Amino acid sequence: MSSGNASLLIRHGRVIDPGRIDGPADVLVQDGKIAAIGRDLSAPAGIEVLDAYGKYILPGFVDLHVHLREPGFEYKETIKTGMAAAAAGGFTSICCMPNTNPVNDTRAVTEFILDRAKRPDSVHVFPIGAITKGSEGKELAEYGDLRSAGCVAVSDDGKPVMNSMVMRRALEYARAFNLPVVDHCECKHLSDGGVAHEGLVATELGLQGIPSAAEDVMVARNIELAELTGGRLHLAHVSTAGSVRMLQAAKARGVRVTAEACPHHFTLTEEAIREFNTNAKMNPPLRTRKDVEAIKAALKDGTIDAIATDHAPHAAHEKNREFEYAPFGIVGLETALGLSLLLVEEGVLTLERMVASLTSGPANAFSLAKGTLAMGADADIAIVDPDAQWIVDPDQFQSKGRNTPFGGWKLKGRVVKTLVSGREVYSSAMSDAEHRV
Ligand code: DOR
Ligand code: ZN
Repeated sequence: MSSGNASLLIRHGRVIDPGRIDGPADVLVQDGKIAAIGRDLSAPAGIEVLDAYGKYILPGFVDLHVHLREPGFEYKETIKTGMAAAAAGGFTSICCMPNTNPVNDTRAVTEFILDRAKRPDSVHVFPIGAITKGSEGKELAEYGDLRSAGCVAVSDDGKPVMNSMVMRRALEYARAFNLPVVDHCECKHLSDGGVAHEGLVATELGLQGIPSAAEDVMVARNIELAELTGGRLHLAHVSTAGSVRMLQAAKARGVRVTAEACPHHFTLTEEAIREFNTNAKMNPPLRTRKDVEAIKAALKDGTIDAIATDHAPHAAHEKNREFEYAPFGIVGLETALGLSLLLVEEGVLTLERMVASLTSGPANAFSLAKGTLAMGADADIAIVDPDAQWIVDPDQFQSKGRNTPFGGWKLKGRVVKTLVSGREVYSSAMSDAEHRV
Protein backbone atom coordinates (compact mmCIF):
# COMPACT_ATOMS: atom_id res chain seq x y z
CA MET A 1 0.00 0.00 0.00
CA SER A 2 1.38 3.36 -0.98
CA SER A 3 1.52 6.17 1.51
CA GLY A 4 2.70 9.07 -0.69
CA ASN A 5 2.94 12.58 0.62
CA ALA A 6 -0.78 12.72 1.36
CA SER A 7 -1.29 15.45 -1.24
CA LEU A 8 -3.22 14.80 -4.42
CA LEU A 9 -5.82 16.18 -6.79
CA ILE A 10 -8.85 14.00 -7.48
CA ARG A 11 -10.42 15.16 -10.69
CA HIS A 12 -13.72 15.08 -12.52
CA GLY A 13 -15.79 13.05 -10.07
CA ARG A 14 -19.29 13.62 -8.71
CA VAL A 15 -18.63 14.97 -5.24
CA ILE A 16 -21.37 14.25 -2.70
CA ASP A 17 -20.99 15.70 0.78
CA PRO A 18 -24.49 15.49 2.28
CA GLY A 19 -26.14 18.82 2.95
CA ARG A 20 -23.22 20.68 1.39
CA ILE A 21 -22.29 19.58 -2.12
CA ASP A 22 -23.62 17.37 -4.89
CA GLY A 23 -22.14 17.89 -8.31
CA PRO A 24 -19.19 17.49 -10.62
CA ALA A 25 -16.01 18.76 -8.98
CA ASP A 26 -12.36 18.19 -8.18
CA VAL A 27 -11.03 17.65 -4.67
CA LEU A 28 -7.62 18.96 -3.68
CA VAL A 29 -5.96 17.19 -0.77
CA GLN A 30 -2.95 18.83 0.85
CA ASP A 31 -1.00 17.37 3.74
CA GLY A 32 -3.79 14.94 4.42
CA LYS A 33 -6.54 17.57 4.65
CA ILE A 34 -9.28 18.74 2.30
CA ALA A 35 -7.77 21.92 0.84
CA ALA A 36 -10.25 22.84 -1.91
CA ILE A 37 -13.30 21.54 -3.75
CA GLY A 38 -14.36 23.13 -7.05
CA ARG A 39 -14.59 22.89 -10.81
CA ASP A 40 -11.37 22.65 -12.79
CA LEU A 41 -8.95 23.19 -9.92
CA SER A 42 -5.40 23.62 -11.15
CA ALA A 43 -2.91 21.06 -10.01
CA PRO A 44 -0.07 22.37 -7.86
CA ALA A 45 3.31 21.49 -9.42
CA GLY A 46 4.37 17.88 -8.97
CA ILE A 47 1.16 16.76 -7.27
CA GLU A 48 -0.30 13.31 -7.93
CA VAL A 49 -3.48 13.50 -10.01
CA LEU A 50 -6.22 10.91 -9.85
CA ASP A 51 -8.91 10.75 -12.50
CA ALA A 52 -12.33 10.00 -10.99
CA TYR A 53 -14.41 10.51 -14.12
CA GLY A 54 -17.70 8.64 -13.78
CA LYS A 55 -17.03 7.96 -10.09
CA TYR A 56 -18.52 9.29 -6.87
CA ILE A 57 -16.17 11.05 -4.47
CA LEU A 58 -17.67 10.59 -1.00
CA PRO A 59 -16.64 11.19 2.59
CA GLY A 60 -15.20 7.92 3.92
CA PHE A 61 -17.94 5.91 5.59
CA VAL A 62 -18.40 5.75 9.36
CA ASP A 63 -19.53 2.47 10.96
CA LEU A 64 -20.88 2.71 14.50
CA HIS A 65 -21.06 -1.06 15.03
CA VAL A 66 -18.13 -3.38 14.29
CA HIS A 67 -16.84 -6.43 16.13
CA LEU A 68 -13.06 -6.58 15.71
CA ARG A 69 -12.68 -9.62 18.01
CA GLU A 70 -9.23 -8.67 19.28
CA PRO A 71 -8.20 -9.19 22.05
CA GLY A 72 -9.30 -12.75 22.63
CA PHE A 73 -10.91 -14.07 19.47
CA GLU A 74 -8.18 -13.50 16.90
CA TYR A 75 -9.17 -16.67 15.06
CA LYS A 76 -12.40 -14.90 14.03
CA GLU A 77 -10.86 -11.51 13.15
CA THR A 78 -7.97 -9.32 14.20
CA ILE A 79 -7.82 -5.56 14.41
CA LYS A 80 -5.63 -5.69 11.31
CA THR A 81 -7.96 -7.85 9.19
CA GLY A 82 -11.02 -5.95 10.42
CA MET A 83 -9.42 -2.66 9.42
CA ALA A 84 -8.57 -4.09 5.99
CA ALA A 85 -12.19 -5.20 5.55
CA ALA A 86 -13.35 -1.72 6.52
CA ALA A 87 -11.05 -0.06 4.00
CA ALA A 88 -12.25 -2.43 1.27
CA GLY A 89 -15.83 -1.43 2.08
CA GLY A 90 -15.12 2.32 1.92
CA PHE A 91 -15.19 2.76 5.71
CA THR A 92 -12.54 5.11 7.07
CA SER A 93 -13.82 5.24 10.65
CA ILE A 94 -15.11 2.28 12.62
CA CYS A 95 -16.35 2.00 16.18
CA CYS A 96 -15.53 -1.34 17.78
CA MET A 97 -17.72 -3.13 20.28
CA PRO A 98 -16.29 -4.17 23.65
CA ASN A 99 -17.35 -7.86 23.66
CA THR A 100 -13.77 -9.05 23.38
CA ASN A 101 -11.85 -11.12 25.92
CA PRO A 102 -11.06 -9.32 28.14
CA VAL A 103 -14.08 -7.07 27.68
CA ASN A 104 -13.13 -3.46 26.93
CA ASP A 105 -14.20 -2.16 30.32
CA THR A 106 -10.92 -0.50 31.33
CA ARG A 107 -8.41 2.01 30.07
CA ALA A 108 -5.83 -0.75 29.55
CA VAL A 109 -7.98 -2.61 27.00
CA THR A 110 -8.92 0.62 25.20
CA GLU A 111 -5.26 1.59 24.98
CA PHE A 112 -4.33 -1.88 23.69
CA ILE A 113 -6.90 -1.58 20.88
CA LEU A 114 -5.79 1.92 19.93
CA ASP A 115 -2.16 0.83 19.95
CA ARG A 116 -2.89 -2.14 17.66
CA ALA A 117 -4.92 0.08 15.34
CA LYS A 118 -2.09 2.55 14.85
CA ARG A 119 -0.70 1.58 11.45
CA PRO A 120 0.29 3.69 8.46
CA ASP A 121 -2.26 1.95 6.23
CA SER A 122 -5.10 1.96 8.72
CA VAL A 123 -8.57 3.36 9.07
CA HIS A 124 -9.54 5.25 12.22
CA VAL A 125 -10.68 3.01 15.06
CA PHE A 126 -12.90 4.41 17.81
CA PRO A 127 -13.36 1.98 20.70
CA ILE A 128 -16.67 1.62 22.52
CA GLY A 129 -16.28 0.83 26.21
CA ALA A 130 -18.50 -1.46 28.24
CA ILE A 131 -21.54 -0.13 30.11
CA THR A 132 -20.93 -2.53 32.97
CA LYS A 133 -17.82 -4.34 34.22
CA GLY A 134 -17.35 -7.49 32.20
CA SER A 135 -20.63 -6.56 30.43
CA GLU A 136 -22.26 -8.51 33.23
CA GLY A 137 -25.03 -5.98 33.71
CA LYS A 138 -24.26 -5.30 37.36
CA GLU A 139 -21.63 -2.70 38.19
CA LEU A 140 -20.96 0.34 35.99
CA ALA A 141 -17.54 0.62 34.35
CA GLU A 142 -15.43 3.77 34.89
CA TYR A 143 -16.69 6.04 32.13
CA GLY A 144 -14.31 8.91 32.87
CA ASP A 145 -11.36 6.58 32.42
CA LEU A 146 -12.82 5.02 29.28
CA ARG A 147 -13.56 8.42 27.79
CA SER A 148 -10.12 9.82 28.48
CA ALA A 149 -8.51 6.66 27.07
CA GLY A 150 -10.40 7.25 23.80
CA CYS A 151 -13.80 5.53 24.00
CA VAL A 152 -16.55 7.35 22.10
CA ALA A 153 -19.58 5.53 23.55
CA VAL A 154 -20.47 2.74 25.97
CA SER A 155 -22.32 -0.52 25.20
CA ASP A 156 -22.75 -4.07 26.48
CA ASP A 157 -23.59 -5.11 22.91
CA GLY A 158 -24.31 -8.76 22.43
CA LYS A 159 -26.21 -8.46 25.69
CA PRO A 160 -28.91 -6.07 26.84
CA VAL A 161 -28.70 -4.18 30.12
CA MET A 162 -31.53 -6.12 31.75
CA ASN A 163 -31.61 -4.28 35.07
CA SER A 164 -33.51 -1.01 34.61
CA MET A 165 -31.83 0.65 37.58
CA VAL A 166 -28.41 -0.14 36.12
CA MET A 167 -29.54 1.34 32.79
CA ARG A 168 -30.80 4.47 34.54
CA ARG A 169 -27.50 4.93 36.35
CA ALA A 170 -25.57 4.28 33.12
CA LEU A 171 -27.48 7.03 31.31
CA GLU A 172 -26.93 9.43 34.22
CA TYR A 173 -23.23 8.64 34.58
CA ALA A 174 -22.55 8.70 30.81
CA ARG A 175 -24.33 12.04 30.57
CA ALA A 176 -21.60 13.63 32.67
CA PHE A 177 -19.10 12.65 29.95
CA ASN A 178 -21.45 13.27 27.01
CA LEU A 179 -21.12 9.61 26.01
CA PRO A 180 -23.95 7.91 24.13
CA VAL A 181 -25.21 4.71 25.78
CA VAL A 182 -25.69 2.11 23.04
CA ASP A 183 -28.15 -0.58 24.01
CA HIS A 184 -28.66 -3.97 22.41
CA CYS A 185 -32.41 -3.97 23.03
CA GLU A 186 -33.52 -7.47 23.91
CA CYS A 187 -35.62 -8.61 26.84
CA LYS A 188 -33.94 -11.88 27.72
CA HIS A 189 -37.07 -13.17 29.44
CA LEU A 190 -39.00 -12.77 26.20
CA SER A 191 -36.28 -13.99 23.85
CA ASP A 192 -35.86 -16.97 26.19
CA GLY A 193 -33.18 -18.84 24.27
CA GLY A 194 -34.79 -18.17 20.89
CA VAL A 195 -32.71 -18.39 17.73
CA ALA A 196 -34.89 -16.84 15.00
CA HIS A 197 -37.78 -14.39 14.61
CA GLU A 198 -40.94 -15.75 16.25
CA GLY A 199 -43.19 -16.22 13.24
CA LEU A 200 -44.16 -18.45 10.39
CA VAL A 201 -40.71 -19.58 9.27
CA ALA A 202 -39.37 -20.42 12.74
CA THR A 203 -42.56 -22.34 13.43
CA GLU A 204 -42.25 -24.31 10.20
CA LEU A 205 -38.61 -25.09 10.93
CA GLY A 206 -39.32 -25.98 14.54
CA LEU A 207 -37.02 -23.30 15.90
CA GLN A 208 -37.50 -21.42 19.15
CA GLY A 209 -38.64 -17.87 18.36
CA ILE A 210 -37.55 -14.39 19.45
CA PRO A 211 -40.69 -12.21 19.36
CA SER A 212 -40.51 -8.62 18.09
CA ALA A 213 -41.76 -7.65 21.54
CA ALA A 214 -38.41 -8.73 23.03
CA GLU A 215 -36.89 -5.73 21.24
CA ASP A 216 -39.88 -3.40 21.55
CA VAL A 217 -40.22 -3.55 25.32
CA MET A 218 -36.57 -2.67 25.81
CA VAL A 219 -36.76 0.18 23.30
CA ALA A 220 -39.77 1.50 25.23
CA ARG A 221 -37.97 1.20 28.57
CA ASN A 222 -34.79 2.80 27.26
CA ILE A 223 -36.65 5.74 25.76
CA GLU A 224 -38.42 6.34 29.07
CA LEU A 225 -35.10 6.23 30.91
CA ALA A 226 -33.42 8.56 28.42
CA GLU A 227 -36.28 10.98 28.97
CA LEU A 228 -36.03 10.66 32.75
CA THR A 229 -32.27 11.16 32.87
CA GLY A 230 -31.57 13.45 29.92
CA GLY A 231 -28.87 10.97 28.89
CA ARG A 232 -27.92 10.17 25.31
CA LEU A 233 -29.39 6.89 24.10
CA HIS A 234 -28.40 5.11 20.89
CA LEU A 235 -30.38 2.09 19.73
CA ALA A 236 -28.20 -0.58 18.11
CA HIS A 237 -29.42 -2.62 15.13
CA VAL A 238 -33.12 -1.65 15.07
CA SER A 239 -35.07 -4.54 13.55
CA THR A 240 -38.79 -4.02 14.24
CA ALA A 241 -41.62 -1.78 13.09
CA GLY A 242 -42.45 -1.23 16.76
CA SER A 243 -38.99 0.18 17.50
CA VAL A 244 -39.31 2.55 14.58
CA ARG A 245 -42.70 3.77 15.76
CA MET A 246 -41.44 4.49 19.28
CA LEU A 247 -38.24 6.07 18.05
CA GLN A 248 -40.18 8.44 15.85
CA ALA A 249 -42.46 9.50 18.71
CA ALA A 250 -39.51 9.92 21.08
CA LYS A 251 -37.60 12.09 18.65
CA ALA A 252 -40.70 14.18 18.02
CA ARG A 253 -40.93 15.04 21.71
CA GLY A 254 -37.24 15.85 22.00
CA VAL A 255 -35.79 12.77 23.71
CA ARG A 256 -32.04 12.49 23.08
CA VAL A 257 -32.13 9.28 21.07
CA THR A 258 -30.42 8.13 17.88
CA ALA A 259 -30.54 4.81 16.07
CA GLU A 260 -28.89 2.62 13.47
CA ALA A 261 -30.12 -0.12 11.12
CA CYS A 262 -28.09 -2.85 9.44
CA PRO A 263 -28.17 -3.71 5.71
CA HIS A 264 -29.41 -7.24 6.43
CA HIS A 265 -32.43 -5.84 8.25
CA PHE A 266 -33.49 -3.76 5.24
CA THR A 267 -32.73 -6.36 2.54
CA LEU A 268 -33.74 -9.73 4.01
CA THR A 269 -36.68 -11.29 5.86
CA GLU A 270 -37.05 -14.39 8.02
CA GLU A 271 -37.34 -16.34 4.75
CA ALA A 272 -33.53 -16.22 4.47
CA ILE A 273 -33.09 -18.75 7.30
CA ARG A 274 -34.87 -21.52 5.40
CA GLU A 275 -32.78 -24.65 4.99
CA PHE A 276 -31.33 -23.73 8.37
CA ASN A 277 -28.93 -21.22 6.85
CA THR A 278 -26.70 -20.27 9.78
CA ASN A 279 -25.22 -17.44 7.69
CA ALA A 280 -28.59 -15.74 8.10
CA LYS A 281 -28.60 -16.17 11.88
CA MET A 282 -27.97 -12.98 13.76
CA ASN A 283 -29.30 -11.13 16.77
CA PRO A 284 -31.69 -9.37 16.44
CA PRO A 285 -33.01 -11.85 13.89
CA LEU A 286 -34.29 -11.22 10.37
CA ARG A 287 -37.94 -10.31 10.67
CA THR A 288 -40.94 -9.75 8.39
CA ARG A 289 -41.66 -7.75 5.25
CA LYS A 290 -43.59 -5.24 7.37
CA ASP A 291 -40.53 -4.65 9.58
CA VAL A 292 -38.27 -4.26 6.55
CA GLU A 293 -40.63 -1.67 5.09
CA ALA A 294 -40.72 0.26 8.38
CA ILE A 295 -36.92 0.37 8.52
CA LYS A 296 -36.68 1.59 4.94
CA ALA A 297 -39.23 4.35 5.63
CA ALA A 298 -37.27 5.35 8.75
CA LEU A 299 -34.01 5.59 6.81
CA LYS A 300 -35.81 7.69 4.23
CA ASP A 301 -37.21 10.24 6.68
CA GLY A 302 -34.17 10.27 8.98
CA THR A 303 -35.88 8.60 11.95
CA ILE A 304 -32.99 6.13 11.74
CA ASP A 305 -29.79 8.16 11.71
CA ALA A 306 -27.27 5.67 10.44
CA ILE A 307 -26.60 2.51 8.51
CA ALA A 308 -24.26 0.36 10.63
CA THR A 309 -23.00 -3.09 9.73
CA ASP A 310 -22.89 -5.07 13.01
CA HIS A 311 -19.92 -6.76 11.29
CA ALA A 312 -19.71 -9.95 13.38
CA PRO A 313 -17.15 -12.39 12.00
CA HIS A 314 -17.22 -16.02 13.14
CA ALA A 315 -15.10 -18.98 12.04
CA ALA A 316 -16.47 -21.50 9.53
CA HIS A 317 -16.40 -24.35 12.04
CA GLU A 318 -18.60 -22.32 14.39
CA LYS A 319 -21.24 -21.52 11.77
CA ASN A 320 -21.11 -24.96 10.21
CA ARG A 321 -23.34 -26.70 12.71
CA GLU A 322 -26.94 -27.06 13.85
CA PHE A 323 -28.88 -23.79 13.59
CA GLU A 324 -29.63 -23.74 17.31
CA TYR A 325 -25.97 -23.95 18.27
CA ALA A 326 -24.34 -21.71 15.66
CA PRO A 327 -23.35 -18.27 16.96
CA PHE A 328 -25.33 -15.15 16.05
CA GLY A 329 -23.76 -12.72 13.59
CA ILE A 330 -22.71 -12.03 10.01
CA VAL A 331 -19.91 -10.01 8.41
CA GLY A 332 -20.96 -6.75 6.82
CA LEU A 333 -18.18 -4.29 6.09
CA GLU A 334 -17.54 -5.39 2.52
CA THR A 335 -21.17 -5.59 1.37
CA ALA A 336 -22.70 -2.56 3.12
CA LEU A 337 -22.30 -0.09 0.26
CA GLY A 338 -23.64 -2.42 -2.43
CA LEU A 339 -26.65 -3.34 -0.30
CA SER A 340 -27.34 0.29 0.64
CA LEU A 341 -27.24 1.28 -3.02
CA LEU A 342 -30.10 -1.18 -3.61
CA LEU A 343 -32.30 1.27 -1.69
CA VAL A 344 -31.28 4.02 -4.10
CA GLU A 345 -31.94 1.76 -7.08
CA GLU A 346 -35.40 0.96 -5.65
CA GLY A 347 -36.15 4.66 -5.24
CA VAL A 348 -36.47 4.40 -1.45
CA LEU A 349 -33.52 6.70 -0.70
CA THR A 350 -32.00 9.50 -2.68
CA LEU A 351 -28.31 9.02 -3.28
CA GLU A 352 -27.57 11.92 -0.95
CA ARG A 353 -29.70 10.45 1.83
CA MET A 354 -27.95 7.09 1.46
CA VAL A 355 -24.55 8.73 1.63
CA ALA A 356 -25.66 10.70 4.70
CA SER A 357 -26.69 7.44 6.40
CA LEU A 358 -23.14 6.16 5.97
CA THR A 359 -21.32 9.40 6.82
CA SER A 360 -22.75 12.49 8.54
CA GLY A 361 -25.59 10.52 10.17
CA PRO A 362 -23.37 8.13 12.14
CA ALA A 363 -20.70 10.79 12.77
CA ASN A 364 -23.27 13.10 14.38
CA ALA A 365 -24.82 10.29 16.44
CA PHE A 366 -21.48 9.73 18.22
CA SER A 367 -20.18 13.33 17.88
CA LEU A 368 -17.23 12.23 15.73
CA ALA A 369 -15.51 14.93 13.65
CA LYS A 370 -15.73 12.60 10.64
CA GLY A 371 -17.94 11.85 7.67
CA THR A 372 -17.49 15.21 5.92
CA LEU A 373 -15.47 16.75 3.11
CA ALA A 374 -15.53 20.17 4.78
CA MET A 375 -12.50 22.37 4.24
CA GLY A 376 -9.71 21.45 6.62
CA ALA A 377 -11.23 18.06 7.53
CA ASP A 378 -9.08 14.93 7.34
CA ALA A 379 -9.08 13.75 3.73
CA ASP A 380 -10.94 10.51 4.50
CA ILE A 381 -12.49 9.63 1.17
CA ALA A 382 -14.27 6.75 -0.58
CA ILE A 383 -14.18 6.74 -4.37
CA VAL A 384 -17.00 4.63 -5.73
CA ASP A 385 -17.68 3.28 -9.21
CA PRO A 386 -21.51 3.32 -9.35
CA ASP A 387 -21.64 1.22 -12.50
CA ALA A 388 -19.34 -1.61 -11.45
CA GLN A 389 -21.34 -4.81 -11.18
CA TRP A 390 -19.90 -7.58 -9.09
CA ILE A 391 -20.84 -10.85 -7.50
CA VAL A 392 -20.28 -11.22 -3.76
CA ASP A 393 -17.62 -13.89 -3.25
CA PRO A 394 -16.88 -14.38 0.45
CA ASP A 395 -13.54 -15.98 -0.40
CA GLN A 396 -12.41 -12.60 -1.70
CA PHE A 397 -13.15 -10.79 1.58
CA GLN A 398 -10.35 -9.05 3.46
CA SER A 399 -12.17 -10.07 6.64
CA LYS A 400 -11.32 -13.45 8.13
CA GLY A 401 -15.07 -14.02 8.37
CA ARG A 402 -16.87 -15.66 5.47
CA ASN A 403 -20.22 -15.74 7.26
CA THR A 404 -22.51 -13.82 4.96
CA PRO A 405 -25.96 -14.62 3.56
CA PHE A 406 -25.13 -12.47 0.52
CA GLY A 407 -22.65 -14.81 -1.20
CA GLY A 408 -23.54 -15.00 -4.91
CA TRP A 409 -25.60 -11.80 -4.84
CA LYS A 410 -25.08 -9.54 -7.83
CA LEU A 411 -24.50 -5.98 -6.61
CA LYS A 412 -23.93 -2.73 -8.42
CA GLY A 413 -21.57 -0.08 -7.11
CA ARG A 414 -18.18 -0.75 -5.66
CA VAL A 415 -15.43 1.05 -3.81
CA VAL A 416 -12.43 1.57 -6.06
CA LYS A 417 -10.25 3.54 -3.66
CA THR A 418 -10.30 4.42 0.00
CA LEU A 419 -8.13 7.20 1.39
CA VAL A 420 -7.41 8.03 5.01
CA SER A 421 -5.86 11.45 5.59
CA GLY A 422 -5.12 11.44 1.87
CA ARG A 423 -3.23 8.12 2.04
CA GLU A 424 -4.45 5.18 0.03
CA VAL A 425 -5.57 2.37 2.34
CA TYR A 426 -7.43 0.37 -0.30
CA SER A 427 -7.42 0.14 -4.06
CA SER A 428 -9.63 -2.28 -5.93
CA ALA A 429 -7.90 -4.87 -8.06
CA MET A 430 -11.18 -5.48 -9.83
CA SER A 431 -10.69 -7.26 -13.12
CA ASP A 432 -12.40 -6.23 -16.35
CA ALA A 433 -14.30 -9.49 -16.15
CA GLU A 434 -15.88 -8.36 -12.89
CA HIS A 435 -16.88 -5.05 -14.46
CA ARG A 436 -18.66 -6.95 -17.20
CA VAL A 437 -20.65 -9.30 -14.94
O1 DOR B 1 -25.57 -11.12 15.70
C1 DOR B 1 -24.91 -10.61 16.59
N1 DOR B 1 -23.60 -10.87 16.74
N2 DOR B 1 -25.52 -9.79 17.44
C2 DOR B 1 -24.90 -9.30 18.52
O2 DOR B 1 -25.50 -8.56 19.23
C3 DOR B 1 -23.51 -9.69 18.83
C4 DOR B 1 -22.79 -10.13 17.65
C5 DOR B 1 -21.51 -10.86 17.93
O3 DOR B 1 -20.71 -10.37 18.74
O4 DOR B 1 -21.26 -11.88 17.30
ZN1 ZN C 1 -26.04 -6.36 19.31
